[in-house]
Amino acid sequence: MNTLYVVANWKEYPETSKDAKKLATSLGKIKIPKGVSSIICPPFPFIASVGQEVKKGKHLLGSQDVSPFIVGAYTGEVSSKQLTSLGVKYAIVGHSERRALGEADNLILEKIKATLFSGMTPILCVGEHDRENSVASHEEVRRELSILADLSKKDIEKIIIAYEPIWAIGAKAKNPASPEDAREMRIYIQKVLADMLTEKVMRTIPILYGGSVTGKNANDYIAVAGMQGLLVGRASLDAKGYNAIIQSLK
Ligand code: PGA
Repeated sequence: MNTLYVVANWKEYPETSKDAKKLATSLGKIKIPKGVSSIICPPFPFIASVGQEVKKGKHLLGSQDVSPFIVGAYTGEVSSKQLTSLGVKYAIVGHSERRALGEADNLILEKIKATLFSGMTPILCVGEHDRENSVASHEEVRRELSILADLSKKDIEKIIIAYEPIWAIGAKAKNPASPEDAREMRIYIQKVLADMLTEKVMRTIPILYGGSVTGKNANDYIAVAGMQGLLVGRASLDAKGYNAIIQSLK
């Protein structure tokens, strides 16, 4: 059976290290079923303390971003080497909230390379701004994936893709993507990857869904959409809600 990934993206929450530790302690008590890999991605300043807590519950650690540089005079950046020294194994790269701050495809590619250089797994986020025009939304996702052509096939095999339709993310989202729509985009992403790789290699790349995931809809994205996991924002800030998601995947 393939591993199912659940990635908790805490974003810029919680506000204090005390609250972060509290949340981590309750997440640490969650029983993670066999075959599920839970990856907690706290804000940078909390990674070390949260890591200590969540490891007790067998969660893994991820970061929400990473520097495109390995080492040097880059004020404010956090390198993949620094992250791996804290036990961080995954890095979210190209989240739409970072793209909205000006992060472009070429920078995202450098971040993927830096992540791979240190032996971490990049989780590349792709997703369209709106769903009104199906041709345009597919083209947007294809363009975001096209940066992978710059990597070796061996490196592409190490990547996780998270399909996150921007219109389905956050408290302002009208609704999550339907599992049927997510399924259709998952198949399209696999087609784009198969054109870049071989069909066999493409099948090894996990594709996750993100955008308003809750305990109620989580399993539909696996069972109906055929995703290999989930990227969870808001619901990962509440241990009960996150546990409901994890347990629904059994
Ligand atoms: P959400 O966020 O679950 O709060 O919609 C998902 C994400 O942005 O990763």
